[in-house]
Amino acid sequence: MKIPSNISTLLAGIALTLVSLWFGQNHGLLPEAASEEASLVDGLFNMMMTISTGLFLIVEGVIIYCVVKFRRRPGDTTDGAPMHGNVPLEILWTGIPAIIILVIGVYSFEVYNAMGGLDPMAAHGMPQQQAMKMPGSAIAATLNQTDKPATQIAEGVGATPAQSPVPDLEIEVTGLQFAWIFNYPDSGVVSGELHVPAGNHVKLNISANDVIHAFWVPEFRIKQDAIPGRTTQLQFTPKLVGTYPVICAELCGGYHGSMKTQVIVETPEEFNAWIQSQQEVANSDNLNRIVALNPQEMSTGEFLAPYAAEMGINSDTLAQLQHSHH
Ligand code: CUA
Repeated sequence: MKIPSNISTLLAGIALTLVSLWFGQNHGLLPEAASEEASLVDGLFNMMMTISTGLFLIVEGVIIYCVVKFRRRPGDTTDGAPMHGNVPLEILWTGIPAIIILVIGVYSFEVYNAMGGLDPMAAHGMPQQQAMKMPGSAIAATLNQTDKPATQIAEGVGATPAQSPVPDLEIEVTGLQFAWIFNYPDSGVVSGELHVPAGNHVKLNISANDVIHAFWVPEFRIKQDAIPGRTTQLQFTPKLVGTYPVICAELCGGYHGSMKTQVIVETPEEFNAWIQSQQEVANSDNLNRIVALNPQEMSTGEFLAPYAAEMGINSDTLAQLQHSHH
């Protein structure tokens, strides 16, 4: 038996390629791409979608074709023809997937790198010995012979300083059961929502207070674990002004499903105005705290107000709560 190679197979192959290429770009499965980095992930995803569509159509197409073409006709009680494999076909269907997986593997690693995948290792400035013990640093270890510090090797491999420029804004992110806290060290602002200025390169230093959480913004195509006792990083450049969900992507306890907040991408002007308004809130908090030294003279609401602000509860939330009470 030879590999079928007539004109209808060729036409089917062309049609299949066109359909796959079209669907790979028009599947509509991904949310809005709100960061510069999102296009890297989307490119990879779309390529995998193109290949998957092609494979799906080939496999399902051949099955359906065979079910129809080789079905048992009435009165036919003969055996099928005896067959002992087909070496060219087997080489073909082993070789093609091997090449596909190799290409996807290299491409994925490139995307991982371009998004700063190796950078967190380097940015820690960990001693080389320690860096080598960390999972995922196999490459740094392999290239160890060159006698360079791990940081330089990681950059040489392609942690690409060009793709990970000096951040315009650094934010400390803390995950805890069951909330995200965002701390802006430059301005002293603490918030339960992440505000970022569009077009600015943002670096998040992520940690956790209790158990492992994962910081995920689908619209930015970024996700990073939040690990107690360790700082992990994420870098991105928000592109589209808007409000997007921040989701905890690691089962972290009973209320994991409700561990959500928002990232608000604003124009730099709006962002600066927000920082200022938050600083004013923080200042009035300090005043409240001084008064709170003598809690007997305060109502419960007054006493709890600064703590409520710390938890990201503002007067609007309280008003809503009171309304729902009545
Ligand atoms: Cu935190 Cu799930």
